Amino acid sequence: RPVHMSRGRFIALEGGEGAGKSTQAHLLAETLRARGHQVVTTREPGGTPGAEAIRALLLSVEGEGFHPRAEALLFAAARSDHVERLIAPALAEGTWVICDRFIDSSRAYQGGGGGLDDAEVMGLHAIGSLGLLPDLTMLIEVSAPEATRRLALRDGDQADRIGGRGEAHHARVACAFAPLAEAEPGRFARIDGNAGPDEVHASILAALPDAWP
Ligand code: TMP
Repeated sequence: RPVHMSRGRFIALEGGEGAGKSTQAHLLAETLRARGHQVVTTREPGGTPGAEAIRALLLSVEGEGFHPRAEALLFAAARSDHVERLIAPALAEGTWVICDRFIDSSRAYQGGGGGLDDAEVMGLHAIGSLGLLPDLTMLIEVSAPEATRRLALRDGDQADRIGGRGEAHHARVACAFAPLAEAEPGRFARIDGNAGPDEVHASILAALPDAWP
């Protein structure tokens, strides 16, 4: 590839269910493409055949599901395949990667309330993905009642094992993400996600560093 080609930028969108991450991922990709960038959108768990198979496994287990440590390993394994096969090669060829959830989801869900501590989650990430971090992580924050309302509209009573939870769950998730953003203000941008999609998109564009192409 040409020597002048610079590495792509890696942007993760984080937040609870119903925050609007996937809508915003697509809006951001369109805008960046219009600015002349090569962009790929992807999601976790998933993004490669192996990682999508792990996603299906995680969502399909009946009853209590996996033990928290087993679940953390599965998310880390899915991420490892995703980084190795899709994210790292795309960045290397100059493509920008927009990812719906990344390591901070494991820190919030498997750490935080989930029974592992943050160092353990980051240890799995070091093994699986050589500790790769996004260049920028947009934390999209919505109130618990708004998240519950949106999920009821989206899923009706089809909510899956992980997604179909009540307002108390959404409040706990929000409480798990916020300190991550506070601890790394340089890597995170906090986005108010309570507004409509266009307004949230504008906030996301405003949060892109001025120095970026
Ligand atoms: P989503 O595709 O609707 O965001 O659902 C994925 C679910 O998986 C969501 O409830 C968050 C959860 N999750 C984790 O618990 N840990 C992780 O590392 C990731 C990526 C997702």
